[in-house]
Amino acid sequence: MILSGKRILLIIGGGIAAYKALDLIRRLRERGAAVRVVMTAAAQEFVTTLSVGALAADHVFTDLFDRNDEHDVGHIRLSREADLVVVAPATADLMAKLANGHANDLASTVLIATDKQVLMAPAMNPKMWSHPATRRNRATLQKDGIAFIGPAKGEMAESNEAGEGRMAEPLEIVAAIEALLDIRPKPLAGRKIIVTSGPTHEPIDPVRYIANRSSGKQGHAIAAALARLGADVRLVSGPVGIADPAGVTTLHVETANEMKDAVEQLLPADAAVFVAAVADWRSETSAGEKFKKVAGEGPPALQMIENPDILAGVGHHKRRPSLVVGFAAETQDLVKNAEAKLRKKGADFIVANDVSRVGGVMGGDRNRVRIVSKAGVDEWPEMSKDEVATRLAALIAERLKTITV
Ligand code: CTP
Repeated sequence: MILSGKRILLIIGGGIAAYKALDLIRRLRERGAAVRVVMTAAAQEFVTTLSVGALAADHVFTDLFDRNDEHDVGHIRLSREADLVVVAPATADLMAKLANGHANDLASTVLIATDKQVLMAPAMNPKMWSHPATRRNRATLQKDGIAFIGPAKGEMAESNEAGEGRMAEPLEIVAAIEALLDIRPKPLAGRKIIVTSGPTHEPIDPVRYIANRSSGKQGHAIAAALARLGADVRLVSGPVGIADPAGVTTLHVETANEMKDAVEQLLPADAAVFVAAVADWRSETSAGEKFKKVAGEGPPALQMIENPDILAGVGHHKRRPSLVVGFAAETQDLVKNAEAKLRKKGADFIVANDVSRVGGVMGGDRNRVRIVSKAGVDEWPEMSKDEVATRLAALIAERLKTITV
């Protein structure tokens, strides 16, 4: 069982969503977790300690000054003897208390006394959620390292109002818990995956170069997402201004030729994902000295030659990885061009994105892509580059599952 041996301290706040905490306890226990519960006074107005205790198969802790509770366990032990503290539902009041360091009941005292990661699943009326005070508290808590799941948009239980404020579903909270405890399944364990990212710089002289617009955000996010699924990721990155992703082996290169050599040396691999915006051309010669402006001579005539196509080279390589994924940055005829690249470059998938908006995808945080393969075109909605990366990593894991090496 995935949560075997894990101890979750669940704090139930007072709100209608408290009933979902009952299901959460059940879901956690069926995955093997031990669940210990603290309930606020308000929570007990919504669900009883009896039903919570029955589901948790444990005593429910409610009172800071209950001599029995304090004698048996005590709020410090309660807050330390857990692998993760989960607050569900996290009310506006509980958020405000922790953001400001209050400790006037058992729940708030445990929260401030813990040295463990805290996950909050907020649930409240949309107006309360969007109130500047709650937003401020949330920002403070996030800065303090508190993780959040939800709230989602939807109908409110207590009124006909709709908006952001509904607590995340129990299974979403379980997934967030698994992610925080880093015990998610690792479907890519034992798989070596090469990722290229960022632009390449092709020197003209010692100070000038030709480059593409690329921040490396999407490629780096994909490398990180693959590593989270357990892959042994080798990231070949052109010059970027962002940090090397955690859990990934990163090789830094400048030019297309260097990128190609690095990638080829990393073969064999199970999969390769080509996200880099490689410069298609380079200056045939790179001057040893800086070009000077000479009156009357005009600009230097650059003789351009084509760079090697790294993706196409690997797509048709004798040691071709089982799965080859390319990207297509297009400004027109997105799908048609992506389909042509699929064939020409020997890729299994082309992730096509429309880069016609300057200041849009390139350098931005969001992306809208289509996955073009022989099977057809799958259109994904606009999402963050991190979400694109997570979904693509899952797709790669799915595809590699059917391929044994
Ligand atoms: N690519 C590569 N090496 C190159 C050029 C591109 O590996 N020298 C890879 C990119 O990483 C991307 C895919 O090929 O995965 C598509 O790149 P793109 O620039 O969109 O296509 P091009 O082949 O350059 O075609 P065009 O510029 O005509 O659109």
